[in-house]
Amino acid sequence: MTMPGHEAAADFREHLIRYGGDTYPEIVEKARGCYVWDAAGRKILDFTSGQMCATVGHNHPNIVAAIKRSCDTALHLFSGMIPRSVVQLAEAIARIVPEPLRKSMFVSTGSESNEAAIKMAKLCTGGFEVVGLGGSWHGVTGGAGSISFASDRKGYGPAMPGTFVLPEPNAYRCPVRHCRDHCDRTCMKVGFELYDMQSTGARAAVIAEPVISAGGVIVPPAGYFDALREETRKRGMLLIFDEAQTAFGRLGHWFAASQLDLTPDILTVSKTLGGGIPLAGVVTSDAIEETCHRRGFAFYTSHVSDPLPATVGLAVLETIEGERLLARSREMGDYLAAGLAELQSRHEEIGDLRGLGLLCGVELVKDREGREPHHELGAMTTRRCLELGLSMNIRRRPERGSVWRIAPPLTVEREDIDLAMAIFDQALTEMKGAMARQPRTTSPAEVSPPDGGGAAR
Ligand SMILES: Cc1ncc(COP(=O)(O)O)c(C=O)c1O
Repeated sequence: MTMPGHEAAADFREHLIRYGGDTYPEIVEKARGCYVWDAAGRKILDFTSGQMCATVGHNHPNIVAAIKRSCDTALHLFSGMIPRSVVQLAEAIARIVPEPLRKSMFVSTGSESNEAAIKMAKLCTGGFEVVGLGGSWHGVTGGAGSISFASDRKGYGPAMPGTFVLPEPNAYRCPVRHCRDHCDRTCMKVGFELYDMQSTGARAAVIAEPVISAGGVIVPPAGYFDALREETRKRGMLLIFDEAQTAFGRLGHWFAASQLDLTPDILTVSKTLGGGIPLAGVVTSDAIEETCHRRGFAFYTSHVSDPLPATVGLAVLETIEGERLLARSREMGDYLAAGLAELQSRHEEIGDLRGLGLLCGVELVKDREGREPHHELGAMTTRRCLELGLSMNIRRRPERGSVWRIAPPLTVEREDIDLAMAIFDQALTEMKGAMARQPRTTSPAEVSPPDGGGAAR
């Protein structure tokens, strides 16, 4: 089974550093809405929204117009100069974010936004210890990478001192082997007990994604974040919510925090704010901002407060509002979930379905009772889907299963979802048939690239 254009790969990769995961074998030329086109003219349904960023669809006319407008005003400025678009974006975010969050700073990537949030938490508390959740991904830079546990940490030497992990609340595959299908938060209790044993007392923050996406689209159970908030408070730590993937409509609301009725001390946003342009933000309260400022907070990057991305960010928010994409995300999310449930009724290998809004996880198993991860089927079906014209991620971790991650743009149409369902069905049917004819085994070592099916987080 070779992908079209495979022969050309050696050429176009010749001067490129390989940075992780598999790359698509053809050059990709064009992206519009929910589709991308490769150099061979193949049209591919994009159920990863690019790198989970293009929630308003690729090259949305409003984004294109915003970029053009920036060419007439300013693209980039001295970092100490504040453009109008940055002021407007901060105001727009202050209007929709849960109180008392009110103040923003804009940088380029999610990793950077989490670096800034961690630094603020350290300054504010005077501590340095940061606790993250198993399976999480907060970025690849020093601090953010240190509290990411779905990424590859091997070979890079020590992580940031003072980083700790809580077992993630995965009810389908309980990490402390305690419960099945219903998480009673023993994972959190055990995790904090272990953390308290190791802590030097210089505690700074707990950081969490509302849905642990790269870790296999794990949706923490009701009440989990209230309990986490409480544990955080008891220890004098700040709660950082990383909404890189969940803010601005992916789950059907402006923020997962508002959906959960939970106010973190610091909220970070990135991917879904920029509509495909590098833009990230850190949002916090007046009190935290004031304390950090008094203690000398500095996060002076070349592109902090740049006008072009902020102009695009405003266009993203206006598009979400104007096209009623929050409601649409819920509606299409229900339609997608119903389609996947129908697929599950016909394919025993679909062990678990989970997700919120338009972020869905489909966990593949060898049998529903034993729940042994079906890594081989995960790899084969993802590859086959791509051959059939559908791009999506597979999240594979040896101990934690093989999970298709499905996250189309919020502008997705019913017909696109119908097409995806037909492709999933065909891929599953064919690959199961192929495996039945030629049984093979795959060892966990073979299936644990940092991120199977592309370097998507
Ligand atoms: C939840 C989350 N936070 C942070 C990041 C890092 O963002 P970036 O890749 O823009 O640095 C990612 C990236 O995948 C992510 O999924």
